[in-house]
Amino acid sequence: MKKKSVRKKIHIISGINIILLIILIICGSIYFQGNKGSKDNDKLYGNETEEVLPGMDDEINDIPHEQASYPEEEQPSKDIVSNEELTESQELALYSDLPYFIGENTERYINYKKQNPDYPYEKIITYVNIGLDCEFYENVNIIDDGHDITVLVNKYNKLPDDFKPELVQLDSAICAPGVGPQYLQKQAFEAFVKMHEDAKKLGLNITAYGTYRSIETQHWIWNNAVNSGRTIEDVDSLNARGGHSEHHTGLAVDVIINNYSVEETEEFQWYSKNAHKYGFIIRYPKDKEHITGYKYEPWHLRYVGPEIASEIYQSNITYDEYYVQILQPEINLQNTQ
Ligand code: DAL
Ligand code: ZN
Repeated sequence: MKKKSVRKKIHIISGINIILLIILIICGSIYFQGNKGSKDNDKLYGNETEEVLPGMDDEINDIPHEQASYPEEEQPSKDIVSNEELTESQELALYSDLPYFIGENTERYINYKKQNPDYPYEKIITYVNIGLDCEFYENVNIIDDGHDITVLVNKYNKLPDDFKPELVQLDSAICAPGVGPQYLQKQAFEAFVKMHEDAKKLGLNITAYGTYRSIETQHWIWNNAVNSGRTIEDVDSLNARGGHSEHHTGLAVDVIINNYSVEETEEFQWYSKNAHKYGFIIRYPKDKEHITGYKYEPWHLRYVGPEIASEIYQSNITYDEYYVQILQPEINLQNTQ
């Protein structure tokens, strides 16, 4: 009786174990099928993603560009400008809004900047527009309108050989003793007379020593100076070549005497502070030889009109700089309208 009861218990336990085993197999199968289905769906709808760990994005972006791989057809062209040139062009582009930026001079600006890395871009653009990236008397432009009182005549801008302004003769009383007949264009003449008269009231005698000179006279002066044994470089720093002299315009006047004793006169003390009110500038100022091409000439006055003369006097820049920065853009604008 006891043996029968034990066998019965063993049967009951074995039955329970089999049921548990079946349940376990069914559950495991359901779990496996569910997971597989989810992955298949992701593939089907394009949601399959790799797990992105924090910081992984940064690592991708940090891959140096040189190491980036491109499909064959997207390889960057080897003809593209170097990084260095690209940087210069991009830097220069920041200045393209300047009224005196000239697009066609871009390459010259970049080359001049390479030669003068310490110059700010405003200076690079101004100097190149003047022509200073070329040697003096290289790349010479023939002036269109020599009769304009704002005309820029320098080593890069030449008056036509047949240019002759309308002139008025000065009374010998306002000229330096023994200099012979002197002539100026009307506006410069009237301004000089007024300045002379106002100075006279203060007991000063501002006289004309040298005024209009024809191209032939200018050629003669330059050749004569060279033939006297001076170097061409030395002559060029004091005397313009034919066609390149402001004296040819009838708007320039050397006052009192053209040497440095002028600076010691009371007249100089006065006109250096007042000539601009009459429309005259000291055209070749001290320490600007690298721009004007001429040594300081305290005696050489150029008529440009009171407004421009006053602006130049206040800003302490050369007429060459003023012209390319202020006047040339206005002229270009008028020509496009
Ligand atoms: N002395 C000035 C520069 C001239 O010859 O015109
Ligand atoms: Zn002069």
